Amino acid sequence: MLNVAIVAGGDSGEYGISMKSGKQVELNIDLEKYAPFLIEIKGKKWNYRIGRKCFPIDKNDFSLTIGHRKIIFDIVFNAIHGTPGENGKLQGYFEMLGIPFTSCDVTTSALTFNKNFCKQVVASYGINTARSLHLFREEKLSGAQILKELTLPFFVKPNNGGSSVGMSKVNQKSELNAALDMAFREDVEILVEEYIPGRELTCGVLRTKGKIVALPITEIIPKKEYFDFEAKYKKGMSDEIVPAHIPETTSEKCQEISKLLYLKLNCKGVVRFDYIFTGKKFYFLEVNTVPGLSAASIVPKMAQANGWSFTELITNMIEEELEVRS
Ligand SMILES: Nc1ncnc2c1ncn2[C@@H]1O[C@H](COP(=O)(O)OP(=O)(O)O)[C@@H](O)[C@H]1O
Ligand SMILES: [Mg+2]
Repeated sequence: MLNVAIVAGGDSGEYGISMKSGKQVELNIDLEKYAPFLIEIKGKKWNYRIGRKCFPIDKNDFSLTIGHRKIIFDIVFNAIHGTPGENGKLQGYFEMLGIPFTSCDVTTSALTFNKNFCKQVVASYGINTARSLHLFREEKLSGAQILKELTLPFFVKPNNGGSSVGMSKVNQKSELNAALDMAFREDVEILVEEYIPGRELTCGVLRTKGKIVALPITEIIPKKEYFDFEAKYKKGMSDEIVPAHIPETTSEKCQEISKLLYLKLNCKGVVRFDYIFTGKKFYFLEVNTVPGLSAASIVPKMAQANGWSFTELITNMIEEELEVRS
């Protein structure tokens, strides 16, 4: 029996979603193979709970002591979206301790969490990305200068964010300043990106039994103007169609790009690549290296469409990580 620490929570606006992802993993993990411990990580408080009792993690070796029993973890299942689970911080800690974990390594996590850096690397492999300006607060570029460089409408987003927090769509000039202020409240650096009209497609990828596998493509159809926070997390505010109603050649193309990116970005675990498909071209939007795993999330549906139960998906992820390490 292997001890699995499922880490969830974190310090971003995605805390609640992450707790749901973690609980769903705990509920579905194969109990014949694994002993799961759901560990909530929030700021400096890292705790395991049994009922009302709280057991702190010893950060020196990421162990847990319950009574006289000291539990050492064989592997960490990472279910923390946003900081510190998706940006390399926890990855660095686990790598220092030599504990295997189910998501991308420190470098890939840190690179991909930075939207600007990630877009540049992705573009270097010949994949389309929306034209954008990367700005720091201190640059104080005027609205007029931005409008000279890029064509409306825009998306203005914090560079190191997630869940559409602090981002907005700018349809006309008069909305630009408010959008810049809102994004700069979340981050010292932002992206002003040209809007790409098209369909939103997303592709889940993982490596299993040593082979990179792309899951069936999902189309996201938000009932809002775009896939904002409400559309993402409020029930019924978006339709997620798995497999997407698109021609097979389109779906194969999307999977091929995603598998290439998985390889070149040196990903591990399950990641989700998001695109806008214009009818001709795919524009890469971002990669989520710790995608949602709650009952309502996209990845479990993708796995199911691929003929895998959620339990099998979890087992595949754990076995692959342990296999690579052994
Ligand atoms: N350049 C763009 N063109 C069209 N839609 C976009 C663009 N950028 C973002 N969006 C929309 O906004 C959503 C959130 O943007 P994204 O960059 O993925 O930020 P987050 O990390 O907050 O999810 C996307 O899922 C998509 O619906
Ligand atoms: Mg996104």
